[in-house]
Order: sequence, then C-alpha cells, then structure tokens
Amino acid sequence: MKRRTFAAAASLAAASSATVTPPPATGGRPALLGGDPVRKTKWSAWPQWESTEEQALLGVLRSGHWGRGSGHAVESFEKSYAALTGARHALATANGTSALFTTINAMGVAPGDEVIVPPYTFVATVNIVLLNYALPVFADSDIETFMMDPKQVGAKITDRTSLIIPVHMAGSAADLDGILAAAKPRHVPVLEDACQAHLGEWRRRKVGTWGKAGCFSFQASKNLNSGEGGAIITNDEGLFERAFAFHGNGRPFKPAAAGPTGDVFPFGGANLRLTEFQGALLSAQMTRLEAQARTRDENAKYLTSVLSQIPGIRSAKLTAGCTRSAWHLYMFRYDAAAFAGLPRARFLKALAAEGIPASSGYTPLNKQPFIAATLASKGYQRLFPAQTLKEWAERNACPANDRLCSEAVWFTQNIMLGSRSDMDQIAEAIAKIQKQAGALKQG
Ligand SMILES: Cc1ncc(COP(=O)(O)O)c(C=O)c1O
Repeated sequence: MKRRTFAAAASLAAASSATVTPPPATGGRPALLGGDPVRKTKWSAWPQWESTEEQALLGVLRSGHWGRGSGHAVESFEKSYAALTGARHALATANGTSALFTTINAMGVAPGDEVIVPPYTFVATVNIVLLNYALPVFADSDIETFMMDPKQVGAKITDRTSLIIPVHMAGSAADLDGILAAAKPRHVPVLEDACQAHLGEWRRRKVGTWGKAGCFSFQASKNLNSGEGGAIITNDEGLFERAFAFHGNGRPFKPAAAGPTGDVFPFGGANLRLTEFQGALLSAQMTRLEAQARTRDENAKYLTSVLSQIPGIRSAKLTAGCTRSAWHLYMFRYDAAAFAGLPRARFLKALAAEGIPASSGYTPLNKQPFIAATLASKGYQRLFPAQTLKEWAERNACPANDRLCSEAVWFTQNIMLGSRSDMDQIAEAIAKIQKQAGALKQG
C-alpha cells in the first residue's frame, strides 16, 4: 500500500473505530429459505422533491418560455453550477452522453484518433468515442479503487492518442495525479467523465476542473437529477465557445460572430440543448444537494467501517487524493471463498430477500461484441491499419477489470440517504448470509 493511501485508510479507520460495533453474528433462517428478513421497510425514495420543484416547473410552464432560446432557467442553472464547481464556464446539455459528445467534438477528436478509456464505466464513455470514429484503447482498472489504473495509461499513449478520459466512478475521484502526469509529457488532453460525481473532489478541488473539461449527467438515477440532463464545465474560453456552438447546431455563443442575417454557421453540430423545465428543476434540486451529499458521506464511511469487519467483503478504496466522494454508488468486492463458495448471484438473491437490494454492476466493457463489430466495419477498416485492428482485442485485455466485474457488488445512492441503523442492517444481513452460506448454497 502506498504511504498516502495507508495514511488515508488509517485515519478513516481511526475516525470510525470509536463508534463502530461489529455486526451482530445473526443466526436465523435466511429469508431466501423462508426465514424472517432483516429488513421489512422501504429505502429512501428517489427522486426527492416538494413545493420548490413544483413552483420551479410551474414557473416555466406559465412563462411560455420552454426552450433556452427565450428563457433564463438554463442560463441561471449554468451560472450556479459553474459557481458550485469553481469552473469558469458551465454549459448544460440534453444528457451526460451529449455533454461528452459535445466536448470531444469541441476538442477536435477526429476519425482515426485513439482515445484512452477505462473498462469499468457506463457504456456512454466508449460510445462517444466510437461515434467519432476514434479507437477506444482500454487502460485496465485498479482492483482496489475500481478506477482507471494510472500505471496502465502511459504505455497506452501512441502518436494517434488525442484524449484520455478518466471516469470518476461511483462519485469518487480517479487518480488524477497519476493520469495527468502520464498525459502531460505527451501533450495529451484529459477530459474527466464526472457523470456520477457531483460535488466529488480531488485534493479539495471539484472533479471536472482538473482536466481540459469535465462532464456531468443529470439522468434520473443521479445525485443531481432532472430526469435527463447533462453539463460540461471548463476554464477554457475557446473550448466553451466551441461546445456552445456544437450543442446548438453550430450557432455561435457570441451573436456578433454570426453573419449579418444570422444564418452563417461557423461550426457544425447538433441540437443537444437542455430545456427550460429541466434547468428550473435542476436549480431546485441543487438546493438539496449539499445536505444529501453529507448524509451519504457519513453513512458510506460508517458502512465501510462496519463492513471491514466481515471477512470477504472489501469496500472500494478511495484514491489517495480523493478528498470527497459523491457516493453515487457504494461498491465493494465479494469474495465467495469467505462465504463457503456461495456464488455472487446467489449472495445477491439472498441479500435482496433480506430486504437489501444490490446489483453486480458492470460487465467487462472491452469485451462487448458491439465494439468488435464496430471495429470490423468498413469505416474502421479504412481508418486504422489492419494490424492495429487485428491485435486490438489482445492488446485491450484487462485482466484486473475482468476480476473486478466478477466480484463487484453495488448499492445505489438512495440507500446511502438512510440512517445509521440502516447501515447496521446491511452489515447484519451480510453477516447473516455468511453464517448461513452453507445452507444457502444447498437450498
Ligand atoms: C460514467 C458515466 N458516463 C456517462 C454517462 C451518460 O450519462 P447520461 O445517461 O446522462 O447520458 C453516465 C450515466 O449513467 C455515466 O455513469
């Protein structure tokens, strides 16, 4: 373990050990085999809203200004979001995918380029690379943090590499020191996929402000949510202006740059704009973000301390510079060997029966057949050397990530909005399953 990582882990353990009691060694018949579940009540509902949101939406409805062309709700949200993140500019987009798509176009990622991505992410991170006819190059995951391993990045940079996209998985920060250090000598820009990481921090500065730009998602499951939605933040004026134009079918940010009749388009683009309804809803939702983030943080840290006492459960470690996680997900690795060989799928079923919903998370993205099919297409055959495409699968093997995908377990962020006793119930249910693992394996 690195010295800084150890110090961070030790201080977390010290902070939490005073208040933590080990999970009770519950016996009792597993709920999956007909016993009483550990938990019978519901978890925190998501999304959360009240009259603030109603008023915001009604205000837009009654104004008649439903699109950003004539209203001010999107612009007002952009200003608040830029202030919240400490970025000079924020641009709202239709969703996180279009925030990423807009940014890579504004950065000039071109057909024939290579883009370095992590294999442990939502498929959108890779889809936008393929949409631009660039080649995704996977840098394997760090199994302890679930993040792109910075040690893998440097060796993947070639003369064709035009971008590196680290993902701040689950709302925690990827190792930005390592990734930026690998990128700098080769002059490769970094775009932070912070779609899950609202209020996440690296070295006490918001994620999304360390690379050339950062992208966020406001899709329904996200900690800041307007059903669908996204944003780009950047300190780069030129990048912001190109992104603004791209997301509005090429209309320039500064009207003075348009022709005399306004019908000159200095850029290409698409319509990837956010509506005024979503802008107003986001401003209302933002008033709850900080308090919710604190609750998640307290619960997640407490949960880590109780789960650390259960053999075979290894919570995802925060990278050494991650000073704040958004806890969009709570992730851990499950070691079946410590549960009498109980397969993860059966563990998840048993956990659900105890009243604790969890999922197995991502499957290996680098092995998705649609990527191989895209690389076999006529366009890719024209753009890349035959040898590059032939060796792609072998060169993009990610053994650490394969293992991660086979061991991971996730809780969604609303679970972290519960109480401390909710966290105790999670630990109690896992301890119960562990004790009864033999019976669950047979049953
Ligand atoms: C890491 C990551 N990148 C990109 C996206 C895409 O965002 P959206 O669903 O808003 O298009 C998501 C959304 O789940 C995400 O988690």
